[in-house]
Formats: sequence, structure tokens, C-alpha cells
Amino acid sequence: MSRAPLDLVIRHARVATASDSFSADIGISGGRIVQLGANLERGQREIDAAGRVVTPGGVDAHCHLDQPMAPPVRMADNFDTGTRAAACGGTTTVIPFAAQEKGQSLRAAVADYHQRAEGRAHIDYAFHLIVSDPTPQVLNVELPALIAEGYSSFKIYMTYDDLKLDDGQILDVLDVLDVLDVARAHGAMAMVHAENADCIEWLTKKLEAAGRTAPRFHAHSRPMLVEREATQRAIALSQLVDVPILIVHVSGREAVEQIRWARGQGLKVFAETCPQYLFLTAEDLGIDDSYKGAHCVCSPPPRDKANQEVIWDGLNDGLFTVFSSDHAPFNLDGSEGKKPGGKEVAFRHIPNGIAGIETRMALLYSEGVLAGRITLEKFVELTATNPAKAYGLHPRKGSLAIGSDADLVIWDEREFVLRNTQLHHAVDHTPYEGMTLKAWPGLTLSRGEVVWDGREFHGRAGRGRFLPSGAPSLLPRQPGRPA
Ligand code: URP
Ligand code: ZN
Ligand code: ZN
Repeated sequence: MSRAPLDLVIRHARVATASDSFSADIGISGGRIVQLGANLERGQREIDAAGRVVTPGGVDAHCHLDQPMAPPVRMADNFDTGTRAAACGGTTTVIPFAAQEKGQSLRAAVADYHQRAEGRAHIDYAFHLIVSDPTPQVLNVELPALIAEGYSSFKIYMTYDDLKLDDGQILDVLDVLDVLDVARAHGAMAMVHAENADCIEWLTKKLEAAGRTAPRFHAHSRPMLVEREATQRAIALSQLVDVPILIVHVSGREAVEQIRWARGQGLKVFAETCPQYLFLTAEDLGIDDSYKGAHCVCSPPPRDKANQEVIWDGLNDGLFTVFSSDHAPFNLDGSEGKKPGGKEVAFRHIPNGIAGIETRMALLYSEGVLAGRITLEKFVELTATNPAKAYGLHPRKGSLAIGSDADLVIWDEREFVLRNTQLHHAVDHTPYEGMTLKAWPGLTLSRGEVVWDGREFHGRAGRGRFLPSGAPSLLPRQPGRPA
């Protein structure tokens, strides 16, 4: 009996996984990887990847797309433009946030977010929840039910007036995970935005009283100690309830030291960092009072060169579990983004966040792998495999293995100067304008379909599917020597 030919064979790939790299052909049928090995039979379609590295498609586990904002502010990217940009940058799965407004039910937030994604997404997506109003109904009914239905991660905030929870509320939310754990039916991951809200408010008022309201003072209002204190407190709260947490967007040494301490104690504390903490510094928010630096206003703010090295070390030695974009797309010009109502406002009113969904993978490949700072395997672990494991999508996503979705990137190693005009997001700038990169995805495959061929985008709005996420499959790793 003759077998049906493979849909697609990628020949002579240098396949990179989180544990090793090897030469192989990749056989794809029905959107999945079905064969891996030498001299595979001919496929209906063939792509020659001789001499080129092939990695799993990126899993961007922290990005904001079309998240409702208080008018006039609006995110520049919706699921159409945001997932198009992601695909062109080598990301094949995104996990943005269904955010609960205070007074809103969590279910209503999820239903609204599905409407925003459906018919627009070009690549597959899951949702994190944002819990901002932990009422008894949310804690006892909605959150456990939603976790069981495939929303197995949520973010809680220790800052921002409209989102922050106090310590008692955080304990109550983490306790939901403890109850789920005891039942052994489901697990979930709590992501924590760790900055001390009262310290930020106190510092902000002082700066305002002194007339220091330019974008660069945003960094002065959020020094490392506000992140360090909140990180330490979040760790203590998770220790008390005995549930894992993942500290998001870690910016520098002081928070890293807290996480290192926790890991040393054997606590289940995971950590994420982002490109802005490797490639930007506080000076990018401005060295004078010009408004230009508003495009780099994000929280926590970028630090300095010495802290960039601390973050590189943490990526290398296992301190960081995931590398995400924290893409929060706001235009610099116009009236809906960094200039609400078209005005240059005081830093406290500048929408927080940096554009980066399309540049995340190439920045780390180029400046990490090709610059010799991290191994190829570490790159795969941080950008694809670990995010898929942390949020219950592995091995379907984040892996080049038989049975996994055929989501992959073939890399082009060539030097070029990055320009926003080359990008596919709907944001009017990139914080990395003018940077020289050494690589870019030459092809992105999503479930066996070419969505980016190195020059043109071939996605289709609505082809992206919602992925219910399961329990995290990740064990804490002790920071140690680089792999
Ligand atoms: O400044 C940031 N990071 N904005 C996006 C929202 C968040 O807190 O992740
Ligand atoms: Zn955050
Ligand atoms: Zn974020």
C-alpha cells in the first residue's frame, strides 16, 4: 500500500531545539511535523534549507493587542496587524491579555477579547487573563472555571490605579491556585507585575512639584528599589501560599537578586525579561526635556548598560525562564497613543509600553546567538519552548518534534540596518530604529503554511486559531553555569 506523499519537506535543515542541534529533513503533513530524519521521501512541496538554522516558531508569551484603554488612548495594533507583525518576525503563537476592568466579570472580559481576535488573527493564540477585581464570584466561580476551560494563566498587578491589587487581594487570588493544586485537576501560572505603587506615587508627586514632568522623569519615578521591594513581597506572598509565580518584565540587578535568592531557597519563582532591558537604557527616554523619548516609556523602565549585562547573565544561567516582547503598541504621533488627545502630557499620563512583537526574535538571535552571548539551544528555550511549557501549550507549540504543529522559522543570516518602514506592525516607530542586525527570519511557517517568505507576508486574517492552554509543564531550574 503506498503512503500519501508528505505535504512539505524542508531539506538539509540545521534543526535547533532547546536541548541540541542536528541536521535533518523535516517532513510535514496536515500542518504537523510527521517525520524528522535524513533522506525523507519527496514531498508535494520542497524547501531547501541547506546551511541554514531552523528553530521552532516563537511563542510570544507577553504581548498586548487591542487591549481596551481609557479614551482617547487606543492600542495601534489589533489582532490583524499585531499577528501579521509577529509572523514576519518569526513568532507563530501569541499570548495577549483578556483584561478584566474593575466591576466587570472575568467571563465578560474573555468574551469581549474573543470577539477582538476572531476573524483577525493570522497565527494561533491563547489568552492570559488579567484579574483586577477579585470579588468572591471571580475567586470562587469564574477563575477556577476559566482555568479548567483553557485560560490557565493570569496576570496580577501591584501597581497602576485601575489594575492594582493589595497584598490581601493577591493572597486571595494565589489561594485559588493552591486550591486547584490540592485538587490536582488543573494547574495555572500567576504572572506578577512587581512595582511598589505607593513609592511610585510619592516619587511622582515630588517630581511634579519640582516641575519635572518630561518623559525621562518616568525612569526617576520608578527606580530599581520600587521593583526590588515589590519583587521581594511577591515572592513572600507566593511562599506563604506555596504556589508558583512568574515575575514579568524584570529590568535589572535588584529584582534579579531577589529572584536568585528565591530560587536558591527552592521556591517556585520563574522570571521573564524583554528586549528593552537588553537594548535600551533610561537615556532612551531622553537626556533633555524633549518629548521624543516618550516612545520608550514603559514600566519598569530600561536601566543602564551594567544592568543590561546582569540581564544577559540571567538569560544565560537559567535565572530567566522566558523572553517576551511585552509589545504594548502606542503611536508616538497622533492623538491616541503617547500623546493623548494630541498633547505632550506629563510623564504620569503617557501610556506605558514599547513596540517589539516583530523584533523580539531577531534581536535575541542576532545579538545573543550570533554575537556569542547565548547558545542556539538557549535561544530556542527562551523564545519558544519554555513559554509554551510555562503556559500549557507544549509540546504542540514551542517544539520541533514529531507530532508538534509545523510552526518554524528558517533563519537568514545577513547584516542589515533595521528601519520601521520594513516592519509590519501599525506603530509609527520602532525603539530599535537604525540598529544593525545580523539576521532576520527568511521564512515563517505556521501549521505548515508559509506566512512570511522573507520578503512578503502571506497570512490570512482568521486563519489563526484559539488554543486552550493546559497546566504549566515547567520545573524550576537552579541558576548555574551556562549550558
Ligand atoms: O509598560 C509596560 N510594560 N506596559 C505594558 C503593560 C504592562 O504592565 O505589561
Ligand atoms: Zn506589566
Ligand atoms: Zn505587559
